[in-house]
Amino acid sequence: MQSLQVLGGISAAEFFAEYWQKKPLLVKNALPDVKGLLVPDDILELAQEDGITARLLTQQGAQNEQWRVKNSPLNTKDFKKLPPLWTLLVQALDHFSPDIAALWQHFDFIPQWRRDDIMVSYAPKGGSVGRHYDQYDVFLVQAYGKRRWQLGQYCTPDSELIPNQPLRLLPDMDVHFDEILEPGDLLYVPPTLSHYGVAEDNCLTLSFGFRMPDSTQLLDQFTDHLLSKPDTQIPVADLAARSIQSAGEVSPTDLAMLKQQVIQLLENTSYFDEAALSLLTESKYPDSLPENDALTTAELRELLDEGAIIQREPATRLLYRPVDETQLEFWAQGEKLDVPAKLAPVLKRLADGETLNLQSLDLQLTDAEITDQLLTMFCDLYEDAIVMIHIPE
Ligand code: SIN
Ligand code: CO
Repeated sequence: MQSLQVLGGISAAEFFAEYWQKKPLLVKNALPDVKGLLVPDDILELAQEDGITARLLTQQGAQNEQWRVKNSPLNTKDFKKLPPLWTLLVQALDHFSPDIAALWQHFDFIPQWRRDDIMVSYAPKGGSVGRHYDQYDVFLVQAYGKRRWQLGQYCTPDSELIPNQPLRLLPDMDVHFDEILEPGDLLYVPPTLSHYGVAEDNCLTLSFGFRMPDSTQLLDQFTDHLLSKPDTQIPVADLAARSIQSAGEVSPTDLAMLKQQVIQLLENTSYFDEAALSLLTESKYPDSLPENDALTTAELRELLDEGAIIQREPATRLLYRPVDETQLEFWAQGEKLDVPAKLAPVLKRLADGETLNLQSLDLQLTDAEITDQLLTMFCDLYEDAIVMIHIPE
């Protein structure tokens, strides 16, 4: 079993058995490559750009007891005359920085479809987002400065919250963990565990979030998908053709049969799988998708000759599923992709997080027809913002 530095030398299997969704894990120097990647000014600037989802939290009042939240768009005015305690949260940092997106590789032991986005928080000394719990798994990684983390009790939807606040804040925490994280350190926090992170000095913390899709969202997507499939819009079996006692009653048997019809739709069609892949690959922040110009195959070939690399566009989810022993089906941005079978192995490498260049693509060795198909596919994927193509600095 491979021991992973990001998990402090334990294997993924040990992590899943011992910690995942069960208990927290602190790893000192888990991600040394995060050091020096970002400084607070980068985040201040980014937060004020178009298409960014950000929140500015402030604490007001004599006891810093009243919280306020200002949602993006944010501008310089919002950062003038701030009270001493504030926090700036920027979502989907990975969509704007390939270097940050590359940090996901440390978490390749968890399927990509579980990934949410990478959020960053920036706070001056004393700043925090308050005592709270989240419904998802999060790896908190200290990127700049220091933050003190306290962990408390597990919470439920009935846990008491501070009234009249714009955030779901806990009045207190039963602290059993109290540590200061330095750049490169990681803290895994399982869902529903209360946590409280207070900046020790000007600090940046990255949150690598992992979630499960919500069942109601899945059902919603499923019904939308069914509505586009005329063959499923058949009337349910006729329940009226039975002798009844009372005209006004809907019997439990009738309801059970109606439910059964719906369950059969879920079970006996491939539509649920398609709806799920469509939901899993939808962009949560469509504003962060770049608008790429069309690229010709000749231009792409030239770029590759100059050392360009091709990788998955960080703002896009590219996933695949096996449809039989030999074939893969690819999905991105909520849609099924039309990929020639011969090109599937290359696209799989991209979906698995690999970065491709002229050498690794081995263009010279493949035949001219495939090379042409491959370049055409990359040009189309680039125009649809499913891959990014750039020359590394
Ligand atoms: C923070 O980075 O301050 C907040 C992250 C979290 O609590 O999930
Ligand atoms: Co949290």
